[in-house]
Amino acid sequence: MASMSESADTASGTDVTDATSDDATRVATVTEAAPRDERPREEIHPGEPEGEPLMDAVDLVAGYIPGVNILNGASLTLHPGEIVGIIGPNGAGKSTLLKSLFGLVHVSSGHLMLKGEDITNLRADKLVARGVGFVPQTENVFPSLTIKENMQMGAFQAPKLFAERFDYVVSIFPKLGARKDQTAGSLSGGERQMVAMGRALMMKPSVLLLDEPSAGLSPMLQDETFIRVRQINRAGVSVVIVEQNARRCLQICSRGYVLDQGRNAYSGAGHALLNDPKVVSLYLGNLEEEVKEEGR
Ligand SMILES: Nc1ncnc2c1ncn2[C@@H]1O[C@H](COP(=O)(O)OP(=O)(O)OP(=O)(O)O)[C@@H](O)[C@H]1O
Ligand SMILES: [Mg+2]
Repeated sequence: MASMSESADTASGTDVTDATSDDATRVATVTEAAPRDERPREEIHPGEPEGEPLMDAVDLVAGYIPGVNILNGASLTLHPGEIVGIIGPNGAGKSTLLKSLFGLVHVSSGHLMLKGEDITNLRADKLVARGVGFVPQTENVFPSLTIKENMQMGAFQAPKLFAERFDYVVSIFPKLGARKDQTAGSLSGGERQMVAMGRALMMKPSVLLLDEPSAGLSPMLQDETFIRVRQINRAGVSVVIVEQNARRCLQICSRGYVLDQGRNAYSGAGHALLNDPKVVSLYLGNLEEEVKEEGR
């Protein structure tokens, strides 16, 4: 795990690991200066509540292939009790950002804090033990296992707490209790999403990372998903949610970040972004207005 000082050194684009050697023997420096968002913190995170964030991602640079960065200095904060949304075009790096918050993509510079501790590049299983849950965009259930077995997988780090946690999950998703012996593969898309969220909730996380939970669902089921996310949030779970369904997402978010090409493009309170003409024209679309103007 990178320590805070290591992260800071890397972020400045210089190598200070060999400060005592002369130039001739000096180990190669990190060639690429990491991009930094030089704006003051309140401009990067407008509307951010006071106090220490639960999660604080600063200038993250990350990617899948060495030398090819997908995140180019992305920052995000999540405060206790918040729902924070990440929206942006396809390929902007939203899933990559979420994966980097969960130790699934290597962060090459910048740093990530959880409750004041540096967790940059900490493994996912360790993050689960520290109260972070993650629901990936795809392949997020074990289709051949029953609902109950999926929940057992979610609680494998705390098997003794299974019964108590399963009751908690069923209180949020009653259908999962009624269908507990049905295989996840035989469920509808909406039901499978419930299983995926339920599994992540089995460890009673304080932070839940959701990647497009409404994708592929009917408008009614999408609404139900957002209602459930709010319910989970009210039960004390702070949420980071990535969504294609940007308008619906921003309606339930405390704050939102628009990610574009791996960088923060816009950020602010959910309702402020919904009403920002630039955000609307670039990322949310003007279909409603166009249709109204045409008098249809
Ligand atoms: N496993 C991977 N290996 C290599 N490149 C990847 C991998 N996953 C994603 N990428 C690349 O990273 C970039 C960002 O992908 P990412 O999935 O983070 O975008 P996104 O904003 O979540 O898009 P979408 O809205 O379509 O889900 C894309 O160019 C993609 O091709
Ligand atoms: Mg994605």
